[in-house]
Amino acid sequence: MCGIFGCLGADAAAGVLNGLRKLEYRGYDSAGLAAIFPEHEGPIETERTTGYVADLVSKANGRFDGAEISIGHTRWATHGGVTDSNAHPHSSNDGKITIVHNGIIENAQELLERVENLGYDVQSETDSELIVHLLDHELNTQPVGRTPLEAFKSTISLLKGSWAVAVIMTGMDGILIARKGAPLVLGRGSGSGTCSYQGNCSHLCVSSDVQPFYGSCSEVAYLDDDDIFYISKNGIEGLEDSPIPEFEVLEGVYEEGDSGIFPHMMLKEIHDQPIALTNVLGGRISADGTRAELGGFKLSPKQMRGLDRINLVACGTAYYAALVGANYIRQLTELTVEAFRASEFPASDVCGPNTLTIAISQSGETKDTLDALQEARKNGSEISSFCNVIGSTIARMTGNGAYLYAGAEFAVASTKAFTNMTAALLLLALTISEIPDKQRKKIVREIRSLPAMVSRQLIEEDGSMESAIEILDGAKSAIFIGRGISAPLVLEGALKMMEVAYLPCLAYPGGELKHGPIALIEEGTPVIAVAPHDSTLPLMESSIRECRTRGAKIILITDHEGPITQFADVIIQTQATGTIVSPMVNVVPLQLLAYHLADQKGLNVDRPRNLAKSVTVV
Ligand code: BG6
Repeated sequence: MCGIFGCLGADAAAGVLNGLRKLEYRGYDSAGLAAIFPEHEGPIETERTTGYVADLVSKANGRFDGAEISIGHTRWATHGGVTDSNAHPHSSNDGKITIVHNGIIENAQELLERVENLGYDVQSETDSELIVHLLDHELNTQPVGRTPLEAFKSTISLLKGSWAVAVIMTGMDGILIARKGAPLVLGRGSGSGTCSYQGNCSHLCVSSDVQPFYGSCSEVAYLDDDDIFYISKNGIEGLEDSPIPEFEVLEGVYEEGDSGIFPHMMLKEIHDQPIALTNVLGGRISADGTRAELGGFKLSPKQMRGLDRINLVACGTAYYAALVGANYIRQLTELTVEAFRASEFPASDVCGPNTLTIAISQSGETKDTLDALQEARKNGSEISSFCNVIGSTIARMTGNGAYLYAGAEFAVASTKAFTNMTAALLLLALTISEIPDKQRKKIVREIRSLPAMVSRQLIEEDGSMESAIEILDGAKSAIFIGRGISAPLVLEGALKMMEVAYLPCLAYPGGELKHGPIALIEEGTPVIAVAPHDSTLPLMESSIRECRTRGAKIILITDHEGPITQFADVIIQTQATGTIVSPMVNVVPLQLLAYHLADQKGLNVDRPRNLAKSVTVV
């Protein structure tokens, strides 16, 4: 997934560099921009570099000041290595047409042969560059009187796959834009800029998401799939069949990715969890504190109880939250429920008129999850979603569900969004459930005490974390084990360790280890065991013994102080929770283990290699 940004107005290039900085979580392999100055004639000025937007800013070194039309890109490489020549923007051979693209062109091979047969000199390994040559050809061979927008439309009609594209051209005082399967939004801002745009706005921008608009734009318009427009001083121009998108007031505020007193955004976001939990619970627990009331869904709790099944679809960390959530719905209702990796969702087998498919996504933009939802809808399922980003594509597509209110999450490795997803899924299970009042009140009491419990967990400082890091630092791999509600949780623990500390990890239900993976244990192999004081504790004790017997170093995460502790090399004491909410407390030491090991290794904790905050390509 990449981030694209374009701007029309005074100092457009500065607007683009600022926009790219706020889109960098979408990909940080390379960055680039292009700009057109007033009265511009020759090839378009461009600059690009591997690395971060900050590297681009220093390389640009003010060369683009004064430009009034500019587009830019921050890349997460899919086609072609991380090189300067594969960085966007890509220009036509004469340099007079320049494009940026987010998405994947699936018929790239066929199009490559086409542009090479047309005699174009292809400079990069990317699928994106092909678009500029195809457009150049369309423009040079088009019948008299056809506009660049029409030539752009026929260029787009040659593509298969997903795209959000922005194009600038010498002699054209606007930006051509198109989207299909990758997000694109317009923003406009009022103010006293020199040039005025539609609605007396000082500038008009296009972006992969609304984040960069906060603080500079006051209105936003969302583009839909297959939209193709030309934006300029005169506003938004479409072709006969496409309705012009409506601007609406931009809600929300931009939370600057400022880690404050913390050295990294990831650590700051781990410490945000008590507040985040308070926000997701806010207004969703009845005034008398006895019931959970999660509103916002199209189906009522009664209708949900009558469903044949509920499917949860998600990717990455959100998938592990879905696994914990499925456990909650199974425990508290009679419903058939299953969590699926969105990229492996068997929609035709598990969807139908009396089913509900709920997407779970922090960004609300993950393509695999979006596609799973579309398949669910195609197969007759009702659809809903849990999203953190307000106004995201998944939230707008489902039109019902609940926001997670975790606040903006900047670190690529998701932390507070996981905890809020899990809490929201427990609220949903309780809202649907018909369990006896006594049991319900007990669970609601536990949920309400979560923010305080997590706060206490965060201030735990007994040196156990350092001792655990000593065991992990230098290890070749690690194994995570848990049972019951902790079995899906340790999958999230292992993911965090792999995402930020690059330590190969396996996560297994404690009882399953002896049926194979235990073969990996040798003297000193770290085994991280999550063993809350619930019905699985005695079973976890035997799993830990089996590992210890083969020389494993046991890092035990538990609220129990009994016999199980004697088998541990390090004990990370957790807050005593009841059973059902333990994942939202026990995830904290798992997040901190990954964070501290990555920090100890001097790795880029917030921008791990090869990752992006959410991936809008398949
Ligand atoms: C990956 C992120 O790209 O997408 C993970 O690196 C995230 O942190 C996953 O869990 C799913 O993203 P989302 O936004 O759909 O929850």
